[in-house]
Amino acid sequence: MPSRLYVLSASTRPTSSGRPLARWIAELAAARTEFEVTTVDLAEVALPFLDEPEYPSTGRYAHPHTRAWSELIFPADAFVFVLPMYNGGFTAPLKNAIDSLYAEWQDKPVGLISYSAGPSGGAPAIEMLRPVLDRVGLRPATPTLSVPGIEDLVSDGAFHATPEFTAGAQAVLAGVAELALEGAGVRAGA
Ligand SMILES: Cc1cc2nc3c(=O)[nH]c(=O)nc-3n(C[C@H](O)[C@H](O)[C@H](O)COP(=O)(O)O)c2cc1C
Repeated sequence: MPSRLYVLSASTRPTSSGRPLARWIAELAAARTEFEVTTVDLAEVALPFLDEPEYPSTGRYAHPHTRAWSELIFPADAFVFVLPMYNGGFTAPLKNAIDSLYAEWQDKPVGLISYSAGPSGGAPAIEMLRPVLDRVGLRPATPTLSVPGIEDLVSDGAFHATPEFTAGAQAVLAGVAELALEGAGVRAGA
């Protein structure tokens, strides 16, 4: 049975350069046999900053927006986070989206794809994210992919992949598929 893979775009800017990249990743994933793909755009989710009276780890959510976020994320088996680098780190909306839930993330694999205008491709944002993922039990897949010079790779709303980026993205997806398969084996008592 295919894993339910959620490709999450972590920019909330209306002019996000990463949105076409996330769309392209979702298309690549959907063309593989291991995944059934859902796309999640944090700009559309528009989650308010954490305003729950109780800790998200209790799973008791007072607000309809948190309940809706929980209900969206709970069925996922695995994720790919497509994240920009802002000032050397990952985005505040991504941190808020993660912090707002807890059990919904536990033990699920996540592929990490970063991008930036500059030459690092946002790799430092991935490194900054790792301890956060660890705290909520998300399991990062290897390898990761970092896309430099994103603004030159996007035009007319489309990401223009090079063979190198295609190979890199497929490697991320293969890593996620492998972890998802292991998880499914554990759940089935294999
Ligand atoms: C607040 C902010 C900070 C940024 N900081 C960096 C940075 O530290 N290094 C870099 O290479 N690009 C930086 N950029 C450029 C972004 O990586 C680039 O604009 C990218 O397209 C942003 O993703 P988005 O368009 O999907 O929101 C920054 C952009 C913004 C908006």
